[in-house]
Amino acid sequence: MKKILFFSNNNNKIGEVKKLLNQLSIEIFCPNDLNILYEPKEVGSSFAENAKIKSSFGFQRSQIPSFADDSGICIEALNWKPGISSRKFLSNFENENECFKYIFSKVQDTGKNKAYFKTSICLTTKFNYHIVFEGNIKGTISKYAKGKGGFGYDPIFIPSGYSQTFGEFSKIKKNNISHRSIAINKLMNFLAN
Ligand code: IMP
Repeated sequence: MKKILFFSNNNNKIGEVKKLLNQLSIEIFCPNDLNILYEPKEVGSSFAENAKIKSSFGFQRSQIPSFADDSGICIEALNWKPGISSRKFLSNFENENECFKYIFSKVQDTGKNKAYFKTSICLTTKFNYHIVFEGNIKGTISKYAKGKGGFGYDPIFIPSGYSQTFGEFSKIKKNNISHRSIAINKLMNFLAN
C-alpha cells in the first residue's frame, strides 16, 4: 500500500482527509504518527508558499510523499486581506463577534461586500518537486453573523448563489462546495491516476 504524510496537526482535517484517501487505498500518516513534533514557521507570502513550506518539511523529515494545506479568507473591504493571516487576524480581537463587527463596519464604510475563501494544497513527492492544487469559493460578507455551524469566518460568509452563510450550512452541504473540498478533490484525482 502506498504511503503519504498529511502534514497537519488539526484533528478535524486529519479525520476528513483520512476518510477520503482511504477510498484510494493509500495509507495516510500525520506528524504525530511519525514522531515529527516540530512545525516550521509559516513565513511565506502566499497560501501556496506556506503550504509548500509545510509539505517540504514533512517530506524532509519522513522521506515519504507529503502534502499540506493553507487556507483563509480575502475580504474586498479590507483590501483583500487578511488572507494568509486569517487565523491571526481573528485572534487579535477580544472575541469573534468583535472581529465580525469590525469587518461589517469596513463593508459599510467602503460599500464593498465581496469576499472569497481560498485553499492551497502542496504535495511534495521528492526533493524539490512540488505540485500545488487550489480551491476558491467566491461570495459576499453577510449583514449579520448567522449560524452556529463551521468555524472561523463561516457565520459571515455567504457563498455566491446561496442566501445562507456557511455557518448555517450543514457540514455535508459546506463540504460539497467549499474551497478546501475543491482543492482536496483535485489532489485526490491526481493521486488516483
Ligand atoms: P487553515 O490554514 O485551514 O488552518 O485556516 C487558517 C484560518 O483561516 C482559520 O483559522 C480560519 O480563521 C480561516 N478559515 C480557513 N478556512 C475556513 C473555512 O472554511 N471557514 C471559516 N474560516 C476559515
